[in-house]
Amino acid sequence: MIMSGIRSIGLLALILASALARPADAPSSQGWLDARLDPDARAELALQAMTLAEKFTLVEGYYAAPRPARQYVPPPEARPASAGYVPGIARLGIPPQWQTDAGIGVATQRGTNTVRQRTSLPSGLATAATWDPEIAFRGGAMIGSEARASGFNVMLAGGVNLIRDPRNGRNFEYGGEDPLLAGTIVAAQVRGIQSNHIVSTVKHYALNDQETGRTVLNVEIDDAAARESDLLAFQIALEQGQPGAVMCSYNRVHEIYACEDRWLLSQVLKGEWKYPGYVMSDWGGVHSTIDAANAGLDQESAASAFDKLAYFDTPLLEAMTSGEVAAARVNDMVRRILRSLFATGLIDDPVVQGPINFEADAQLSQADAEEGIVLLQNRGELLPLSSRLERVALIGAHADVGVISGGGSSQVTPVGGNPVKGVGPSDFPGPVVYDPAAPLAAIAKRLPRSAVLYDAGDDPQSAARLAAGSDVAIVFAQQWTAEGQDASLTLPEAQDALIEAVARANPHVVVVLETGGPVLMPWLDRVGGVLEAWYPGSGGGEAIARVLFGEVDASGRLPVTFPRSEAQLPRPQLDGVGLPRDQLFSVHYQEGAAVGYKWFDQQGLDPLFAFGFGLSYGHVTYSGLRAALHGSALEVQFDVRNSSARFVSDTPQVYVAPPAAGGTEAPKRLAGWQKLALAPGASAHVRIDVDPRLLGNWQAQCGWVIAPGQYSVLLAQSARLTRATAHVTVPAALPVHCINPSAAVVDTRAE
Ligand code: BGC
Repeated sequence: MIMSGIRSIGLLALILASALARPADAPSSQGWLDARLDPDARAELALQAMTLAEKFTLVEGYYAAPRPARQYVPPPEARPASAGYVPGIARLGIPPQWQTDAGIGVATQRGTNTVRQRTSLPSGLATAATWDPEIAFRGGAMIGSEARASGFNVMLAGGVNLIRDPRNGRNFEYGGEDPLLAGTIVAAQVRGIQSNHIVSTVKHYALNDQETGRTVLNVEIDDAAARESDLLAFQIALEQGQPGAVMCSYNRVHEIYACEDRWLLSQVLKGEWKYPGYVMSDWGGVHSTIDAANAGLDQESAASAFDKLAYFDTPLLEAMTSGEVAAARVNDMVRRILRSLFATGLIDDPVVQGPINFEADAQLSQADAEEGIVLLQNRGELLPLSSRLERVALIGAHADVGVISGGGSSQVTPVGGNPVKGVGPSDFPGPVVYDPAAPLAAIAKRLPRSAVLYDAGDDPQSAARLAAGSDVAIVFAQQWTAEGQDASLTLPEAQDALIEAVARANPHVVVVLETGGPVLMPWLDRVGGVLEAWYPGSGGGEAIARVLFGEVDASGRLPVTFPRSEAQLPRPQLDGVGLPRDQLFSVHYQEGAAVGYKWFDQQGLDPLFAFGFGLSYGHVTYSGLRAALHGSALEVQFDVRNSSARFVSDTPQVYVAPPAAGGTEAPKRLAGWQKLALAPGASAHVRIDVDPRLLGNWQAQCGWVIAPGQYSVLLAQSARLTRATAHVTVPAALPVHCINPSAAVVDTRAE
């Protein structure tokens, strides 16, 4: 049996041998527990009081579920069936770190009899589709409160990898393809989680943008391009979210594993960005002691259960003793961990297990889902559905019992259990789990005097027969995506043929998509309505029904481009498919920072549905667009009026198009937006302050530099639907966020 909970005998012996370095017993006044001091001072005081053994306690984590293949048994103090555990130091008042996945709720790890039924938010991508940081914050606060009540004080949330490829199996955990949108929404969720005085991570740092070969693949990307895309999403999430921890990723970048990448961890994250928290590894993401420690890794997660060796156990002490890892670096690891525990309030406000108000939490999840559902097509105003329909056919996707969710470590076991058993792989990342939030019940409730009939959709002919005799047929189409595998853009299990068959039988067809991300829609021209509901979570059925019946406006907007085919993607074929599991390979991100709509714009490609797109049931008009530049501060203002007779939710978007010679990766970038709710006839004045980085390019000599010339400011309803344009002129090159100001030629920031 592998030792767990207690450090290895070798390490203990070495620590005893170095007992001379041990400080005296903790002073009677434990100054670090004084909440009036700042977290840095508290961390320093606690560090000074720690023995070497205590310091080493904090840098190694344990998996909290058994791994029979490795004869691994979790420490008894860990919360059963959870992601991880780091022992505390009772003598100093430092509690254990109890870690749980993930970004949509409190997950349960498989392999035990423990099942933790919890509320599931809609997928991360669904929350990004709300374009609403406020609901993202509230969702984060909700799942963070469930984490607390479940005895967890570290939540492995904050997935902010950019959607570089719509086939990435984990896109559902992330915030979309644009760095500003993803960074802002994920940051809000992280703030919500941490408002519970627990730590949230952001992950997986960095460039972990596909699952195929995720532990072996090597990413090649130009430095500036990385800064303007994936890294910018992290940077914004860190600035706005202030997460206690960053989880480094499995992949390699320029041949170096992310968890031992000095450039990523020390130079960029901790150096240039001045990140004060700690870096924890992804589970099984560490491959060395000295390289990882010296590169900036602070805590090895689930070491003995996942890594080849527990690198931050005895090997780290040996490396420290030999001087290959400086004692100061070990102190820095511990100081950073302590700082985050103090800064978030984790130490001052210890977690206590307690009751959860599942009803209230499901309602919040539903509100999030409602805001994230995107109305993609509404021919002949088929939607909203009338309450006078007499006969409605519901078809497919187990809509009679639930809504599908995404698989892998983020999987939440729903309250009430999985209503559809035995689907998908029996091992990780399966099985397929449905949230018992049935669209059928929610729709039938709204049509009390009508026949609402369900067909499983297994046989297209039977589904078509039901549709033929109905006023409206609603086909639920699903795509299960999961960690550890990438997806196809084609709906699985012949669902395209099912939709075609139903569309032939009835001209009034609505397709409700429950997908991890973009899918192809060969039947689009033959159906009336299309709703993208993503993985809608614990309140999914009600949320879908409320949008279908127009009880709320359709207010979601796409956080990701839907392509017409794989041929439009930067890599029509995913790299690494079919290679043996351990074979190293490289992915060249030749598109650089031109991710998603930027790629489509740059290449002049016409997407199926553009980034930012989503229909509403009402109408708005925009007026008075003004843009002014004060130094590097671009201020955009405009007015929005609800010109319809119903409540409208609208998300005006501002894009900035640089001068042709501006050197940016693509014709335009999203620079801001505002989500609005407007009563009939009501107006709103909107002001958006644009982050100067969104006008600039990353240049090694300085940092972000804004090129001179005329910039267009577009007020738009999607990346392909501009309503008004204004212009501003940058007179001379403007260095902003200069990392190396002495290298800057002109610095007009003071002007
Ligand atoms: C995933 C992480 C997750 C961890 C712990 C890894 O496989 O990549 O996102 O937090 O497992 O479950």
